[in-house]
Amino acid sequence: MTITVVGHGYVGLVSACVFADSGNKVWVIGHTPEKLQRLKNGDPIIYEPGLAEMLKKNLKAGRLLFTDSYEESIAKSSIVFITVGTPPKKDGSADLTAVYKVAESVAKNLGDKFTVVSCKSTVPVGTNLEVGKILHKYKSKKATIAVASCPEFLREGSAISDTVVPDRVVLGSNDKNAIKLLLELHATFPGKRVVTNLPSAELIKYASNSMLATKISFANLISFYCEQTGADVEMVLDAVGMDKRIGRTFMYAGVGYGGSCFPKDVQALTDTGKNLNIDVSLLESVEKINHRARKLFVDKVLKHIKGKSVAIWGLAFKPDTDDIRFAPSIYVVQRLLKEGFSIKAYDAAAMSNVRKLISDPKLILVDEPYSALDGADALLVLTEWNEFKTLDASKVKKILKSPILFDGRNIYDPQKMRADGFTYFGIGRN
Ligand code: UGA
Repeated sequence: MTITVVGHGYVGLVSACVFADSGNKVWVIGHTPEKLQRLKNGDPIIYEPGLAEMLKKNLKAGRLLFTDSYEESIAKSSIVFITVGTPPKKDGSADLTAVYKVAESVAKNLGDKFTVVSCKSTVPVGTNLEVGKILHKYKSKKATIAVASCPEFLREGSAISDTVVPDRVVLGSNDKNAIKLLLELHATFPGKRVVTNLPSAELIKYASNSMLATKISFANLISFYCEQTGADVEMVLDAVGMDKRIGRTFMYAGVGYGGSCFPKDVQALTDTGKNLNIDVSLLESVEKINHRARKLFVDKVLKHIKGKSVAIWGLAFKPDTDDIRFAPSIYVVQRLLKEGFSIKAYDAAAMSNVRKLISDPKLILVDEPYSALDGADALLVLTEWNEFKTLDASKVKKILKSPILFDGRNIYDPQKMRADGFTYFGIGRN
């Protein structure tokens, strides 16, 4: 099958590579010449394990073609996926300008064969209907189209396996032929098929991300109780999760969730709810607790250390990515800088992105974790990269000015750390 993917961010590029890898011819449309050239040369631009190899393999096989031309690709394609960004506006609603602009360009370049146009970008309920209206307004008479919603559930850091081995494939459309084509495209992937209408498919995506964010904020809320009562959040949530109806996965307390999805999607669902006159206080609390988690973490640091110098391990919003969008680390770094701190920080992948965002001379980025400890009054761990999990306690203690450890992801055993001579602060652990 020949398909077009408009956009080459995480969702676009990963989907394009995976569809090409399963034998389809995939055009990818972008508009920045420099980025397109890098992609054509096999450089995926974004950091994602396994992506460079898959990109190179499918470029070589001639199944992956990058272009800035709608004319070159759209008319040849049976399915067009729109995967451009939907950033949050100031009021929390999703900015759909790029999606609608792409829909217009797609419409103007449709050929005379049946084409399915589907948003893979996360878009609020009703967006695909709007896309349909735009397509009908700008397409030629001979072009026949159907709109579909085909949300993506990939996580950064494991994007390829999430796409190749999905838990479920959600396909929303009122058009039987559209569903048939989409089922055919996804035939090689395992996982349950959920075939539904457009609004259900659109809502499934927001409901999934908001449920996951709710689990995290619930874990953080319980950690606030633990901090004040002597309870241990890991113990509490382990036992809570033993109830099969609840489960333990994705319910870890820490400095809170970040990234380009949960913060934006919880806000967008809140905004949609407000427009529909629905009480959105649950979603508002999820967001509030998330901010509180990172705030309390910094409060704790300020309360317990004497000097004004810290080491930070981990800046990415989660491990295995270089992404720092809405990362808790950005709040922590900026607040500590404001308080007059000097910071030495290390991250396995995200440092060049941090460098672009924060240019304060009091933030020094170092090439390996132990160099960050030099002259620091405490070590703060903000991302649970694997390389931090087996820390060399005697080396850390030797380099730090005082052996204080703030574990923002609960990756260390408090008892062991204390036995090793650290003053240890976890999240919701005493
Ligand atoms: C999330 C969803 O997990 C994907 O299913 C979805 O497709 C994607 O958003 C999207 O909408 O595109 P992602 O943001 O890449 O994926 O990363 P997650 O692994 O979900 O982590 C999000 C944040 O939650 C991270 O900051 C992580 O540290 C935090 N988190 C996660 C916790 O604080 N506690 C947990 O128990 C789990």
